Amino acid sequence: MVAMSDPDLATLAAALSSESLDQLVTGLADSMVMAMQAVHTPTQPPPAPATTTTSSSSSSPSNVQGPESYLPSTMLPSYISALPTGLEKGTFIAVDVGGSTLRIGVVSFEQDSRQLRYLTSEPLDAAIRNIDGKSFFLWLASQLQSVVYVAEANGWIEEGISVPVGVTWSFPLDQTSVSSGRILSMGKGFAAMGQDIYGWDLRTVFQQCCKDIGLDMDLRAVVNDSVATILSHMQTDRRCKIGLILGTGVNASVKVPITCLDEEKLSRCNPRDLERYAECILNTELSMFGTDILPRTRWDAELDASNEKPGFQPFEMMVSGRYIAELARYIVRDTVLKFRPSSSVPAGLDRPYGLDTSTMSVVEGELDIQFARQQFLARHPCKEGRSGITIDEMKFIKAAFYAVSSRAAAVVAAGILALAVGVLPPSTPPGDGDEIVVAATGSVIEKYSGFRLRVQEFLNLLGQRRGKKIILAVTGDSSIWGAAVAAAIN
Ligand code: BGC
Repeated sequence: MVAMSDPDLATLAAALSSESLDQLVTGLADSMVMAMQAVHTPTQPPPAPATTTTSSSSSSPSNVQGPESYLPSTMLPSYISALPTGLEKGTFIAVDVGGSTLRIGVVSFEQDSRQLRYLTSEPLDAAIRNIDGKSFFLWLASQLQSVVYVAEANGWIEEGISVPVGVTWSFPLDQTSVSSGRILSMGKGFAAMGQDIYGWDLRTVFQQCCKDIGLDMDLRAVVNDSVATILSHMQTDRRCKIGLILGTGVNASVKVPITCLDEEKLSRCNPRDLERYAECILNTELSMFGTDILPRTRWDAELDASNEKPGFQPFEMMVSGRYIAELARYIVRDTVLKFRPSSSVPAGLDRPYGLDTSTMSVVEGELDIQFARQQFLARHPCKEGRSGITIDEMKFIKAAFYAVSSRAAAVVAAGILALAVGVLPPSTPPGDGDEIVVAATGSVIEKYSGFRLRVQEFLNLLGQRRGKKIILAVTGDSSIWGAAVAAAIN
């Protein structure tokens, strides 16, 4: 039987104790309060490229400043103040630039109902992640072109008009208006491109690349995917105050009174909005919180050190789909596989990111250990003639997966609670009580065996102590719906 005596396994388990979770909530809430008050001083951004050719060569502006010239960006205003009512009307193109997929949809809103008429999906593989910024946007424009063609051919969108579009951008963006913003450092393996297009105005480069290929698009709104999540859910549930996205990456948005914004943020809002609206939505960039607060094991430290951007997203590295399987792989490598010759290591487990989050989920979800082992070995076969994974080893692997995913669930719950106590205003309108609905979306929260329930249980436990009732409400396809809602209300 594999020894469970590794001290870092004990650290993983200790993170789940109510005492350390309480401390985590307090620490995160304090750093969120500080981030709300931090003075945000972005330097002058470089202009977007001014070419109008369809050349795919890099055309980065000459005066691009390195990411170090910006402060870390959290608590970013979305400039979404008009909130959805459910009475939105019209047909819109919705673009979802996700961490691993590009999706483009045609969405119609009519009289209290909404319809997704058409949806395409393209993987954002390593080849795409590493092209230069201008080429990426030209590629995006060409994908859009075929969808616009289908929408026009079906009569969903009138030909010859400027096509209304909303974009969900699953990366940090320093918004300057509801439909524009400076592209900030990108995680999720987009390191090269993030550097290349750093500081570009998303609206300018998007519209320009569309124009370059003859597409007339009217970019009405750009929203972060966490903002899209809250918008999508609010259309049908006005109690929603937090949007959570947990898939390849993690993030949360919050609905706060406009008066919560600091002076610098207020000064960047449209004065008309300040007069008309009482609330706005903030993109918290939750992924970046947790430095010196999260309880780390040596595996967390190793994962961070091996990342393109060490220290960039501590919270994300403990909870998101891109990273939890890598943490689990390190644990299996250092325990079950420690003394094995490399020839008998199951396929894939010896290479970075060789274990998939979906495999963890399948193994955890299988009650019969024999069957869990079969499923595991089907994905990670051993060389012929080599002993595979014994039942005892499989039990340990399953327990290790559970430990990593449970800690992720607990940390996510602590993050949500920190937002509820640190960022949401203490008094809610009469009638609302202290019930907070969190719109939740993303592959981990939606598909990982038992994950959502575990987050909800931690929320119940932690919330009870702080007098908050927090309810997770899964909202599917929110990046597409949210982009369309944002385009419709702006
Ligand atoms: C990005 C966020 C995004 C989140 C979820 C993070 O890595 O920084 O902007 O919302 O992933 O996709």
